[in-house]
Amino acid sequence: MHKAGALAAQILDEIAPMVEPGVTTGAIDDAIRSKVEEAGATSATIGYKGYQHASCISVNHVVCHGIPGEKRLKDGDILNVDVTVIVDGWYGDTSRMYVAGKLSRKAERLIQVTHDSLFKGIEAVKPGNTFGDIGHAIQAYVEAHRMSVVRDFCGHGLGRVFHSPPNVLHYGRPGTGAVLEPGMFFTIEPMVNLGRPETKVLSDDWTAVTRDKSLSAQFEHSVGVTEDGFELFTLSPGGKFHPTWS
Ligand code: MF3
Ligand code: CO
Ligand code: CO
Repeated sequence: MHKAGALAAQILDEIAPMVEPGVTTGAIDDAIRSKVEEAGATSATIGYKGYQHASCISVNHVVCHGIPGEKRLKDGDILNVDVTVIVDGWYGDTSRMYVAGKLSRKAERLIQVTHDSLFKGIEAVKPGNTFGDIGHAIQAYVEAHRMSVVRDFCGHGLGRVFHSPPNVLHYGRPGTGAVLEPGMFFTIEPMVNLGRPETKVLSDDWTAVTRDKSLSAQFEHSVGVTEDGFELFTLSPGGKFHPTWS
């Protein structure tokens, strides 16, 4: 888990300088694919349920599962890049936000609240707490900032598989859900919208967008429960998880 998580995070560090107005999301994905290959690792997403790419790149009102392609980034676009790699059979899954060109104040606020909500959830990870405690911490923080938590997608168990139970909801009530135990591995990956929480999936069967076309952001870490708290497998080797544009 350490090797897989570190590789996924390192790749997200390395693509940061590419994110500029004029570059296509397909070019960013090509670079990610090459880096996974050069590391001798495997992309978890290529061939997953028919998905063909080494990353998901979700721009502006795309909530998640954006398909890389010929679309060129414009000044002020915000984007989530999500990479999952397999190293020695173990999965590392992480995503973070980038900006092409100049960041608007409202996008900056959305990205900051989304990042901080992930860490509110992470801080709730310790033996004896429940998955509801994680979801509640995220939801309470996001809604206090008058933004909304997406309900239609969630985090997931991972380890030797990509997606396993439990569903890690990014909303909930304290004390509900399964109890956390040392040795559990899962992702926390809140998606936060400036407008309403509802999403819809486009006719390509992957791209999820906000129904009201409001901006959306997401951050994801792969997390392990330790004897007295948590461990993050997908820490950025360069300390570049957030902000990616400084
Ligand atoms: N990495 C995504 C997640 O966080 C899953 C992407 S599946 C894909 O769970 F097929 F869309 F790539
Ligand atoms: Co995930
Ligand atoms: Co992911």
